[in-house]
Amino acid sequence: MTNEKCKVLEHVDIGAGYRRIVFDAPQIASAAEPGQFVHVRVPALEESALRRPFSIFNAEDGRLELLYKTVGRGTAALATVNVGDEVSVMGPLGHGFPVACAGEPLLVGGGFGVAPLYFLARVMKSKGLSPKLFVGGRTKADLLALDRFEALGVPVFPATNDGSAGTQGLVTDPLDDELIRLRGIGRPFELFACGPDPMLKAVAWRATGSKSKGWISMDRHMVCGVGACYACIQKTVRGNSRCCIEGPIFAAEDLVWD
Ligand SMILES: Cc1cc2nc3c(=O)[nH]c(=O)nc-3n(C[C@H](O)[C@H](O)[C@H](O)COP(=O)(O)OP(=O)(O)OC[C@H]3O[C@@H](n4cnc5c(N)ncnc54)[C@H](O)[C@@H]3O)c2cc1C
Ligand code: FES
Repeated sequence: MTNEKCKVLEHVDIGAGYRRIVFDAPQIASAAEPGQFVHVRVPALEESALRRPFSIFNAEDGRLELLYKTVGRGTAALATVNVGDEVSVMGPLGHGFPVACAGEPLLVGGGFGVAPLYFLARVMKSKGLSPKLFVGGRTKADLLALDRFEALGVPVFPATNDGSAGTQGLVTDPLDDELIRLRGIGRPFELFACGPDPMLKAVAWRATGSKSKGWISMDRHMVCGVGACYACIQKTVRGNSRCCIEGPIFAAEDLVWD
């Protein structure tokens, strides 16, 4: 883990309150694994010294890419950062997804939850695996970076609540169709998920219910990001775990849901 002063190389509005930011971060990018996160000190919030955690959307050729949604003070301040500015970025942090996979890798994302799944899909493809993406959102504008997945040759199965793209309904609708198909031909699968809690719970339930592996990226409020403050507790079958250290990726069978 390093703390790098990173120059902003790109920072673009991708619509519906989402932005993509690219840093020159050679040390973090070379060490990063899919599913890990970085802790970003937002310059306009420097006085509070608090950082904000973001999944690594991609790490390649010394470039670190993040995809984020403006939801409050920290992300609104991050949105004002300009190309050429320097930002303190700490990482890579936490445990990532296992990249080896026994069976079909099925990636399930919602909203900015696709961020770590793109990096995962890219690494899986480089290792000869054939991931598929099941992605959900309220509306079409919440389906992020689909062009990037398609450029990798990853089949994408979208679902939106309002039917503006893909299946009308939940992301678990096209996922269930695929699970039924795979069971029909006796193919094993593993699930890799990141998104809102209800979606994660539904995916974890499908993994444990079918005795398949499920890898779930938990999003818990974080302060220190390095295991010192216990702000990011996730209940597991082994007791309380720190999401920033023992996570953010947990095995589905280890998670305890409230
Ligand atoms: C491991 C990890 C990876 C993450 N990856 C991404 C990512 O790739 N892209 C992205 O856009 N966001 C990601 N998040 C969420 C992001 O960290 C929060 O949205 C951000 O910290 C909010 O800061 P803020 O100051 O703008 O909001 P605040 O002013 O602190 O809060 C504004 C609103 O956002 C809610 N909020 C605050 N923190 C979180 C959180 N952790 N998750 C969900 N809602 C929150 C608050 O409850 C409140 O309603 C990740 C979080 C974690 C823990
Ligand atoms: S954020 Fe401090 S222990 Fe996890």
